[in-house]
Amino acid sequence: MPKSPASDGANEYITLTDHSTGKTVDFPLLPGATGPKVFDIGALYKETGYFTYDPGYTCTGACESKMTFIDGEQGILMHRGYLIEDLAKQSDYMELCYMLLNDDLPDSKQKQDFVRIITEHSMVHEQLKKFYDGFRRGAHPMAIMCGVVGALSAFYPDSIDILDPKQRTVTAHRLVAKMPTIGAMAYKYSIGQPFIYPRNDLNYAENFLHMMFAVPAEEYKVNPVIAKAMDRIFLLHADHEQNASTSTVRLAGSTGANPFASVAAGIAALWGPAHGGANEAVLNMLAEIGNADRIPEYVEKAKDPNDEFRLFGFGHRVYKNYDPRAKVLQESCHEVLDALGIEHEPLLDIAVQLEEMALKDDYFIEKKLFPNVDFYSGIILKAIGMPTTMFTVLFAIARTIGWIAQWNEMIEDPVQKLGRPRQLYTGATERPVIPIHKR
Ligand code: SDX
Repeated sequence: MPKSPASDGANEYITLTDHSTGKTVDFPLLPGATGPKVFDIGALYKETGYFTYDPGYTCTGACESKMTFIDGEQGILMHRGYLIEDLAKQSDYMELCYMLLNDDLPDSKQKQDFVRIITEHSMVHEQLKKFYDGFRRGAHPMAIMCGVVGALSAFYPDSIDILDPKQRTVTAHRLVAKMPTIGAMAYKYSIGQPFIYPRNDLNYAENFLHMMFAVPAEEYKVNPVIAKAMDRIFLLHADHEQNASTSTVRLAGSTGANPFASVAAGIAALWGPAHGGANEAVLNMLAEIGNADRIPEYVEKAKDPNDEFRLFGFGHRVYKNYDPRAKVLQESCHEVLDALGIEHEPLLDIAVQLEEMALKDDYFIEKKLFPNVDFYSGIILKAIGMPTTMFTVLFAIARTIGWIAQWNEMIEDPVQKLGRPRQLYTGATERPVIPIHKR
């Protein structure tokens, strides 16, 4: 059986003792490049007859990866060893896309070639336009994204052979390039405006803004401040280890499903308010709070175990410290508002005061609940004119590179296999079926 490269490092073991039988079993303890070691339980059932039980996979490693590392306790996020704060300052989204698909940041020539390829893939099949007509104009853009992206294999059947590295590369380029076009089309469709074609003279973020806000009736000038903020938001959302939507893409891909279908599954998973849908939920929450006087009421609601309400944009499965992306976005928030001459943004005032209050509250301190990536992103997106219903679409556009790069890493992993978790069964044990006339 092919062994994970990580197993080569196994010269330590965890010994499990089953006190009901007295049997002891050693499991290889595998070191990573950094972060927690893992112990390989692949032989657990064979050796003990037991499964593990970890609802929500809170401490279960599903795969080996070289792409993204998160230290939740320290609030560290790195992509291939580069801190997200440094990448946000000194790199851009296209460079990060290149790096996630390759091993390192590109040099100038590599970047120029990569950007050219992405630019040249940004148009979609002309017949895809008809697909939108099937949706109600009021359909949520994420519903459209799920449908349209899921259908892409019907339009690009020449790049769905998952065993052909060249086709995998073409699909990765197509998805990164076409998601902004598909997302902008979803927005245009929802407001009854004509679709705007991509333009090859604009960079990735400029092109997206142009497709979103240009109209045929007049020239649209992209504001460089907004374009820079958009690129930074894309960069910060690009990849994030084995989050729910990326794990969904990996699980769907492990069945051999084509990459377009696997990414569509990731879009569906991202939509939930506990995940990527939180950015839209944050804006709605801040608007519902309405003014600073009502913040204590909502903080108490969030703390009430009998109240479903959660402070959207707060808390994280992995970060038990500040989400480093939230810090970068908080800085960007002030930069964008200043640059746009927005002196007073009520929602930002509420957000800042809500953060201050929550971070002083024992409940949030004890549970280590800090602002996450979604807390400030919505305020910037609102400031640059994005409709709230498009917030999660933007997250999906940005995260597509993470999904397809992780999917590709899975396909290339010598030990990857069909993902198929087990369970703890607590239902009825075997019993006879009673004929209906006797039930
Ligand atoms: C993203 O995984 C990723 O990497 C995701 C992401 C990415 O880039 O892909 O980072 C993007 O999804 C960010 C998270 C966006 N979601 C939200 O902002 C929604 C609000 N947050 C919560 O729903 C919650 O914090 C989660 C879902 C994000 C994480 O929840 P966990 O890890 O399952 O933890 P939990 O729900 O068990 O919470 C632990 C405790 C609980 O209280 P007790 O049952 O122990 O008494 O903290 C409480 C929770 O009730 N809690 C909150 C809270 N978040 C957790 N209480 C109030 N408000 C909150 N926001």
